[in-house]
Parts: sequence; structure tokens; C-alpha cells
Amino acid sequence: MAKYEYTIGQEMDLRKEQAKTLATPSLPANFILRMIFVVFDLVYGKERTLPKFIVLEMLARYPYWAWENGAYKALSRLYAVCDKPCPQVTDELLHLIDLGREGQDNEQWHLLLLADIVHQKGIKLSWFHHYLIPRILLIKYNLLAKLIFWINPCWSFAMNAAFESHAEHQYMLMAKENPAWDQEPVDTAYFQYYPRQRTLGDLIRRIGLDERDHMNHSLEELGKRA
Ligand SMILES: [Fe+2]
Ligand SMILES: [Fe+2]
Repeated sequence: MAKYEYTIGQEMDLRKEQAKTLATPSLPANFILRMIFVVFDLVYGKERTLPKFIVLEMLARYPYWAWENGAYKALSRLYAVCDKPCPQVTDELLHLIDLGREGQDNEQWHLLLLADIVHQKGIKLSWFHHYLIPRILLIKYNLLAKLIFWINPCWSFAMNAAFESHAEHQYMLMAKENPAWDQEPVDTAYFQYYPRQRTLGDLIRRIGLDERDHMNHSLEELGKRA
């Protein structure tokens, strides 16, 4: 059996997977992540809400961008200085570029799905909480994600695994805290790009499972370099 099992594209029993997540502790977060989570709770409140998770999804994309960007730069350097670059190194960099792109796309769908549902529910987002503060956080997190990957890719994979583990648990807890969402049908134009779910509860669980896959991708990359 493979060490890491991925769920994207598979028919899963979402409630069973939710129970699995909630029976397992999150990966320990480093100091930087703990600070980010504290700032989040201070600015957006401790309660798990859809508007708060929109901002979480905005941040989630940046480590994948750092992987893609860093791998492209490494590939350019490799081909600039080597007459015959090692095919194995080239393949590893191309794999990282693919992984970075897939991760960014998946986080983007999460962001667009949540934003559309918030819009459908008529929840108003404030300029301060959903424009100004995210811009400040994103500029810093983007630089931080690139710097960490540049210093040591393993630090980036380890930190992202902990971030994704936190996200997986937060989504599964949010689904548990909102049982009414299991009776709430969900529809959005973005289901042409993302697996259609019947209820809002299941959509939140499916996004939580994607976060588990992201965690496993990060752990797998970390394992390859250990
Ligand atoms: Fe996400
Ligand atoms: Fe994620």
C-alpha cells in the first residue's frame, strides 16, 4: 500500500473521512504559523466562519507559488551553467513546478467556491477585513514563503504540511459545528471545475479532504529529501 493515499478524483465517504480527521491530532505548527493563527483569531475572531476561511484560502496559495517560482529559477540556473544538465534533477524540478501549479489551482477553486457561497448567502464582506488586512498579510506571507523555500525547501514543505493539517481540521470542525449545512443544497458555477457536491456540509468536507491531500503532498516531498 502506498504511504500517502490521495483522495482527489476519488469517490469518498466524506463523513467517514471527517471522523478520521477529527480522531487525529493536527501536525504541530512552528512559531511562525502559530503567530499567523493568533493574528487570524484576533482579527477575524475564534469562530470558524466562511468569511474567515476566504482569507485563509488567499494565504494558502503562496507556498505553492514559491515552489513553482523557485523550481523555475533553479531550472534556468541549471540550464545556464551546465552543458548537460542531469535529467533526474530536471525531472524533479518539473515535478515541483507541476505540484506548485496544481496546489495553486486547487486553492484558487476553494477561494472562488467560498466567495461565491458567501455572496449567495448575502453575507457582506468589509473593506477592512477582506481587502486591507488580507493585502498586508499576503505581501508579507508571499515574501516569507519565497524566502523559506529559497533558504531550505524542506522547511517550506514541513511548514506547509502543518498549515494544511490545520486547514483540514478547521474545515472538518466547521462542518461538524454547522449540522444545518447537511440539509442545505449547494450550487455554484464553479462546479464545472470542481467535484459537484450535494450539500454545503459535503462541500466543506470535500475541501477539508483536499487540504489533507495537500498536507500529504508536502510530507511526501519532505520524505524524498530526508
Ligand atoms: Fe484550500
Ligand atoms: Fe490547501
